[in-house]
Amino acid sequence: MTEGARATGRFIAAEGGEGAGKSTQIRRLAAWLEGRGIETVTTREPGGTPGAEAIRALLVTGAPDRWDAMTEALLIAAARRDHAGKVIRPVLARGAWVLCDRFADSTLAYQGYAGGLPLDRLTALTRLAVGDLTPDLTVILDLPVETGLARAGRRAGQTMPDGPSAETRFEGRDLRFHEAVRDGFLDIARREPARCVVVDAAAPVDEVARQVAAAVEERLLSDG
Ligand code: TMP
Repeated sequence: MTEGARATGRFIAAEGGEGAGKSTQIRRLAAWLEGRGIETVTTREPGGTPGAEAIRALLVTGAPDRWDAMTEALLIAAARRDHAGKVIRPVLARGAWVLCDRFADSTLAYQGYAGGLPLDRLTALTRLAVGDLTPDLTVILDLPVETGLARAGRRAGQTMPDGPSAETRFEGRDLRFHEAVRDGFLDIARREPARCVVVDAAAPVDEVARQVAAAVEERLLSDG
């Protein structure tokens, strides 16, 4: 790094099944990092730009069989490309940290492990869309499927019970699908331990937040 140049920011993704508490934990982590003087930008996938949010609306609403897994993957890749180019890369380039609710591991878990598409093709698709953009740290919030779905159901019920724009398309999948998503995330964590950390998301919110902050401290903030 030349003198006076700013370091690029860090890219953190939060992953997990339905109702894992990703958005709460991202909010908590953003506050924790801001308290340490680190500028953060919180965003999500699919979404994060007007175009990607429009694609998100197509993906997460409607009947479960509205799209097959490959169509989902292609839509998500298009959204991801827009998001990476317009938000993630520019934010990292100016030295702020990106906290992203889901990223490419969700495609592997949902469209690959659960949806049946070959993982190598999905990895190639992500690479086509965003090049080598990869999180510095991926926090996998793990909890039993039924606990997560109950939480997600409560949340959906509180806001928009079953209207046409309720984001329930994936929640409507059967238990086996969601178990495959969970197992997929755990397998990704086993395969890439340097990038991934698994946190028990069934623990109380404060404890989960403490563990997430500890992982960030250890992996991204300590010198060693
Ligand atoms: P959310 O639950 O974090 O709001 O995400 C919306 C849905 O999108 C969620 O059910 C999982 C799904 N999804 C995929 O199937 N593949 C992906 O690559 C991403 C980012 C999300």
